[in-house]
Amino acid sequence: MNTALPTRPGAIGVFDSGYGGLTILSRIREHLPAYDYVYLGDNARTPYGTRSFEIVYEFTLQAVNRLFEMGCHLVILACNTASAKALRSIQQNDLPHIDPSRRVLGVIRPTAERIGALTRTRHVGVLATAGTIKSESYVLEIRKLHPDITVTGEACPLWVPLVENNEFDKPGADYFVRQHIDRLLAKDPDIDAIILGCTHYPLLYHKIRAFTPSHIAVIPQGDYVAESLRDYLHRHPEMDARCTRRGTCRFFTTESVEKFRESASIFLDCPIDVASIELE
Ligand code: DGL
Repeated sequence: MNTALPTRPGAIGVFDSGYGGLTILSRIREHLPAYDYVYLGDNARTPYGTRSFEIVYEFTLQAVNRLFEMGCHLVILACNTASAKALRSIQQNDLPHIDPSRRVLGVIRPTAERIGALTRTRHVGVLATAGTIKSESYVLEIRKLHPDITVTGEACPLWVPLVENNEFDKPGADYFVRQHIDRLLAKDPDIDAIILGCTHYPLLYHKIRAFTPSHIAVIPQGDYVAESLRDYLHRHPEMDARCTRRGTCRFFTTESVEKFRESASIFLDCPIDVASIELE
């Protein structure tokens, strides 16, 4: 057990490989504005989606440890790729040594729980990074909860770079967005609900919606993750007591502060307090 970690109550940590987790953070803050938050974006090493299991696990564990050192007792992996490739190992193998009372939660389970109520045909599509699709995490989680649902995935390797490079609302993005939606629907024409299984994709929502037939629901995760966090804190008063409430939010990036501030303004419409850190 790491006895050097601060024990006093702290902020809730929110981690992503880059900017995508800001789409989750903004929904969480909307639902739970009283709490304090620390956001950490590993922008210098994004994207994670094309990286190996071992590297995503290593980078995610570094970020979680850093957030614990900053005083967080609860960390949300606001990244599907990290949730798919690192969450289980961290929960089962690392937390017992680091501090068994700290918690790390992901974004796949809350979405999988809700999907049963959002499909009539029982055919669901998932658009996500190559890493998330290859891990089959959505297929496995959804099958556990809703065995009658057929899940079909489509990896969209260029979508995160489009978002990270501010190209997501440009006409040049249209081709790449349409291509993957068409491929997904060709694999399973009965799909009536598509999960945006990457936290970067809500930034492409308008394009995705425009290229998806109107009878198909396009489902971002933010509200489900926020509702699930609220339930979690309600069910775990001992953790709730370790989360401070002054309504603040601090941001940390492994890239330059200026670049983060400029790009984050696309996701959040207020000035932000951001500092640069190194992860190792
Ligand atoms: N935003 C992340 C996700 O939800 C990851 C993107 C990436 O780094 O490839 O999967």
